[in-house]
Amino acid sequence: MKSKILVVDDEPLNLQLLRQILEDTYRLVYATDGEKAYNATVKHNPDLILMDIMMPNMDGYEACRKLKANPEISKIPVIFITSMGEIDDEKLGFDIGAVDYIIKPINGSILKRRIQTHLSLVRMDELEKTQLIIIQRLGRAAEYKDNETGLHVIRMSYYCRIIAEKIGRSESWCKMIFQASPMHDIGKIGVPDNILLKPGPLNEEEKTIMEKHPKDGYDIIGYHQSRLLQMAAEIALSHHEKWDGTGYPNKLIKDEIPFSGRVVAVADVFDALTSDRPYKDEWSVEKAVGFLNDQSGIHFDPVLIDAFNKGLADILDIKEKWSEKSSDQNN
Ligand SMILES: [Fe+2]
Ligand SMILES: [Fe+2]
Repeated sequence: MKSKILVVDDEPLNLQLLRQILEDTYRLVYATDGEKAYNATVKHNPDLILMDIMMPNMDGYEACRKLKANPEISKIPVIFITSMGEIDDEKLGFDIGAVDYIIKPINGSILKRRIQTHLSLVRMDELEKTQLIIIQRLGRAAEYKDNETGLHVIRMSYYCRIIAEKIGRSESWCKMIFQASPMHDIGKIGVPDNILLKPGPLNEEEKTIMEKHPKDGYDIIGYHQSRLLQMAAEIALSHHEKWDGTGYPNKLIKDEIPFSGRVVAVADVFDALTSDRPYKDEWSVEKAVGFLNDQSGIHFDPVLIDAFNKGLADILDIKEKWSEKSSDQNN
């Protein structure tokens, strides 16, 4: 999936030029002043922003400052595009958080290289790598409590990524849900083993305790500036909501449910159905796929069931690769 770039310039000819250079490699969104750039960033969550400086209403510096003050979008790299006359202000641009400066007239291949560098720098970010390891370990910790192998979180995170790809989410978003989804059941750390491992249906009281795990997980992850951890918390809280509003804990309906939570619901249920659990035997793939499709528009977002169906071959490859059996053989 192509990365998404927000291109900001008040001059239509400049926008057209940048479009010609970039449209084959990236998905583009546009804005014509700082204010619109800010709003477009919140709305489209681009992977990178190319920002002109001199613009009416709100200029590029002010827009950049505003972006950097919002923790949800502050990590998105901003590259200023400036004409020679503005170069004295280069230092100011870096001071307010831009990652690069490109001077007009623009050379297409150099611009592309610089964009590529910054996109990969973002991906390689050391801090993110550390977060990722912690997230995976915590996800596994929760998983060990009700499944000895910890393979469920691996499989379902791949399924999430496949569904996100099929629905056309950006590369960075697909990667983020892959990394954030393993923590969905972290709140189960607070559920007693006699409930978690009970071989049969739960009574009302046990159910109430079990249904606390989304909120507990949300509280355990807490609030952080990291977009990844924000998504992990959002998923923990919303992965048992249902499209028709009968899920828990908040009985959210349709679009009220965060998109990430809706994706995880599909991936999580499919893997639960096709695995052995203390309370049920493994279902066949056909039966599980049939169930998911029957529940399209009831439990699940119909658009995501379509994406699941499109990605089924890839999903089954993952299921095979990370099956409990093949892991026994590997060990
Ligand atoms: Fe759960
Ligand atoms: Fe799960």
